[in-house]
Amino acid sequence: MTLIRIPKAWELRESQVTSATAYFNRRRLLKAIANASLGAGIVSVLGCKGEGSSASNKTLASANEALTATLDQPSLEPLTRNPPFQKIDRAITDEILAGQYNNYYEFGGSKSIWRASQALPTDNWQVTVTGLVKNPRTYNLEDLLKKFPLEERIYRMRCVEAWSMVLPWVGFPMKLLMAEVEPTDKARFVSFTSYYDSKIALAPVSSLGQKVPWPYTEGLRIEEMANELAFFAVGIYGKMLPKQYGAPIRAVIPWKYGFKGAKSIVKIEFVEQQPGTFWNTLAPSEYGFEDNVNPNKPHPRWSQKTERFISTGSELSWEERPTLLYNGYEEYVAALYQ
Ligand code: MTE
Repeated sequence: MTLIRIPKAWELRESQVTSATAYFNRRRLLKAIANASLGAGIVSVLGCKGEGSSASNKTLASANEALTATLDQPSLEPLTRNPPFQKIDRAITDEILAGQYNNYYEFGGSKSIWRASQALPTDNWQVTVTGLVKNPRTYNLEDLLKKFPLEERIYRMRCVEAWSMVLPWVGFPMKLLMAEVEPTDKARFVSFTSYYDSKIALAPVSSLGQKVPWPYTEGLRIEEMANELAFFAVGIYGKMLPKQYGAPIRAVIPWKYGFKGAKSIVKIEFVEQQPGTFWNTLAPSEYGFEDNVNPNKPHPRWSQKTERFISTGSELSWEERPTLLYNGYEEYVAALYQ
């Protein structure tokens, strides 16, 4: 296997840290989460991939058999390609690169998540839609694939920790599922719950003895969910979703930071009150419930004015770009926040 070292510049500079105490505590907690059950290979854990950890610990595999086998999923072609979401101001990130640069903390905090996450059992997957809806449903994956017409959308992806990619998702708009289950007038929020099984994932108590809020949850206001852009992805690069991306179905909310996109969803619940979410529970000052991509709203520890865009090619390199308000999707979503 050829290993490529990630350039030193990937590290967040210490000077970007504005709240050293909060930073330290959170790091300690997250590290403890990661160390809870998957001792080996844990480098560091933060809210988004690629940030803060020592570059010397991070390696990136070029195409190798084990990695490409995980990406070798059944094809979803022929696909409808939704025209407004085909052209974008930057190149699509290389598949081999994106497919090993994932975050999936249930399976640890290292960059070998692509390997560890293969333990996720995706057979006979079911998604339950429940709560304040007129037509509660439990779908198996085949139902979802038959019921909702799939399309490809090329979206920008922006991590809260200031790196970005461009990914060609395959899936369907969330609003189609809403039309089917019909949220009641009382429903104001939606909560997404990811699969969690402590036998294959990190333990529910960190090595510091703190309770970790598994399963991973995220949420939206229902107006956000009804927006044209909010998407359930079941595929990427024209194929079914590999496990490291959150197979078989995950949320993609391109105008928000990446952590809002819950992976491997098993439950979708419509509720009246704002639901708790994983990162907001762990570190509310760093991860807001709403958290839209916004260059003018700095993170407590660093500026969001620019981002490191991961360039194409199988080797990891990046270029600094200005962060776009709502990740460049202002025309679609600005009205939600007036
Ligand atoms: N969903 C689950 N269940 N577990 C996670 O650890 N990480 C989030 C989000 N969804 C995460 C998750 C974060 S922090 C990011 S940046 C994105 O997934 C990463 O998605 P990607 O690996 O497909 O790029």
